[in-house]
Amino acid sequence: MPGIEKSMADFVREHPDLRYAFFGGKGGVGKTVMAGTAALWFARQGKKTLLASTNPVHSISSLLGQNVFGKPTPVDGAENLHAFEIDTSETIERSKREIREKIAWFLQYADLNTKADDFIESATMNPAFEESAMFENMVDLMFRDEYEVYIFDTAPTANARRLLGMSKVYSLWVQKMLKSREEAKSLREMLSFSKKKEKDPLMDYLLSFQDRMANAQRLLTDDQKTAFFFVTIPEALPIAVITRFINWFHDFGIPVGGVIVNMLIDNTILQGTTDEFVLNRVAAQAEHMDTIWKTFDGGVRAIVPLFEQEVRGVPMLQRTADMLFK
Ligand SMILES: Nc1ncnc2c1ncn2[C@@H]1O[C@H](COP(=O)(O)OP(=O)(O)O)[C@@H](O)[C@H]1O
Ligand SMILES: [Mg+2]
Repeated sequence: MPGIEKSMADFVREHPDLRYAFFGGKGGVGKTVMAGTAALWFARQGKKTLLASTNPVHSISSLLGQNVFGKPTPVDGAENLHAFEIDTSETIERSKREIREKIAWFLQYADLNTKADDFIESATMNPAFEESAMFENMVDLMFRDEYEVYIFDTAPTANARRLLGMSKVYSLWVQKMLKSREEAKSLREMLSFSKKKEKDPLMDYLLSFQDRMANAQRLLTDDQKTAFFFVTIPEALPIAVITRFINWFHDFGIPVGGVIVNMLIDNTILQGTTDEFVLNRVAAQAEHMDTIWKTFDGGVRAIVPLFEQEVRGVPMLQRTADMLFK
């Protein structure tokens, strides 16, 4: 009979510097619940913890039964814990504004007579723009360094992957831009009679952008500070989804903390039951558990049972924490 080789409790004990934890997986498997559970657990260990979500839906507020939208808010009944549902529309508007300023400045600098609006339109109508604005937001939060532990309710899976895959390309591009900026600048300085240095906001921006990229990559690939956990339920599709995620993450050197299996029906409560529906569900789950043990091998960190009710509110999160960190 397979079993858990290294539990969630073992993992956090072996990673005392863990600061950034992410929970990924298919919709509805319990990512928000596990993130909330882990956040409560870290807070109870005495660590100043932020539970943050970049989800457009108000999932954390509903998990906690408390409005945490728009700003980090102390969680009632849980010391050391703040929760924060990031206002996506505000983030997106701000990103658009920043891009608008940069593009306008650049066009002016380059003496181009094009309307900035055309550029802004094409930059921000991109479907990846929203996702990428959210990612920026998350990275900002991490850099602000106000908490000891950050738990993110959804792993920006595609983004983390894209970011790390792209970071080489980005840094080559930024280096090229910087080089040509420097050449253009020294040419201008040589040609100009005045000796005063020109301010160059685009160069500053490129430098700080490069810096942020390098920082984000360093944080996201630091296996002492960062862990991505993947949540699944004993069903085919959610298992397939996280199998793919884990492979991507291994390829990019992003630290995978392990797999959490959620909503397993506790078959010890079945004694005497002949209800076909329940028995069939349990049999199907058992089969998918075989796949889980085969696929993730020593990577399973916890098995959380299906409770008789939804997971909502701090007492229910505590009950879940007792199972997650058993
Ligand atoms: N172990 C569990 N037992 C009972 N209900 C659960 C359990 N885990 C999650 N739920 C419920 O399942 C639903 C989906 O969970 P949620 O965390 O919102 O999923 P996700 O964030 O992955 O979409 C919620 O209503 C939640 O309360
Ligand atoms: Mg969710």
